Amino acid sequence: MSLISVDNLDKKKIEYLLEISVYYKYPYNKENYKDMLKDVSLINIFFENSTRTSLSFQKAILNLGGNYLHYDVSRSSINKGESLNDTIRTIENYADIIVLRDSKDDVFENIKSNKILINAGNGKNEHPTQSLTDLLTIYYCNNKKIECFNNLNITIVGDLKYGRTVNSLIKILLNFDNITFNLISSKNLKLNDNLKKKIIDKNCKYNEDRDYKKYINNTDVLYMTRLQKERIDDNMKDNYYNLDIEDLKNVKKNFIILHPFPRNDEINTNIDSSKYAKYFLQSELGVYMRMGILSHYYFKNKMRLSRL
Ligand code: NCD
Repeated sequence: MSLISVDNLDKKKIEYLLEISVYYKYPYNKENYKDMLKDVSLINIFFENSTRTSLSFQKAILNLGGNYLHYDVSRSSINKGESLNDTIRTIENYADIIVLRDSKDDVFENIKSNKILINAGNGKNEHPTQSLTDLLTIYYCNNKKIECFNNLNITIVGDLKYGRTVNSLIKILLNFDNITFNLISSKNLKLNDNLKKKIIDKNCKYNEDRDYKKYINNTDVLYMTRLQKERIDDNMKDNYYNLDIEDLKNVKKNFIILHPFPRNDEINTNIDSSKYAKYFLQSELGVYMRMGILSHYYFKNKMRLSRL
């Protein structure tokens, strides 16, 4: 039982995860869920840096009454030449849920696990739990109505070629109807053709451009991303953006700005206190979405095992 790709999710499951995450957000429900995953252990195996994803998974399991095993890649036996598969087989004896982040796009193709495996980012490929968090933020800012995703106009800015959050977000949004994607990047960092084809096949529209200014006043969601410096050759670093408060003068009433973070210079800090800035709410909601994911996959797996 795993969450490796947003391809594993359909509209019904997305809606369920949004609803359950909103339930977890409200403190008065705490009594009902605080021991829900008692004695369940989670471990993060992160071969790339992380602040929000790793900490929100830790917080999520603790909020549900479970526990967290500390695993430090830099001090692990991986550095003595142990294979990832041997590491995972060992960790399966200690943990019920394994959350993995790796720089390799295909890392999950070679891993087998009997436990719950969650993708926390694989190279430039996918980041499903971030996309679910992105959807939760849009949903939360639109009166928690699932219809808010239909007819959405979303402007995605930055590194569309190497950004895994972009990949997963576009794919997950294609579960809904009539979305317009404004894809803003430099020439070298455009979205891959495969995904553009998926957009067309779903009868959605896309515009490609270097500058977001022309699109911003029709945009519902502005999704800024940083340059994935760790995946890019030096000669590709011509993708500079700096959203400023001056750019927001004529935006729509429901306009919001998201960013998976970390931020570099893409959003001027003079925007942070504006009502449109929802990126800190987004990182807060990441905990509740991950609580939703953990409880859903844990109980689903338990049911599956009881049927064997
Ligand atoms: C993102 C990631 O790791 O892909 N961060 C995150 O998990 N929130 C985005 C990024 O690193 O640019």
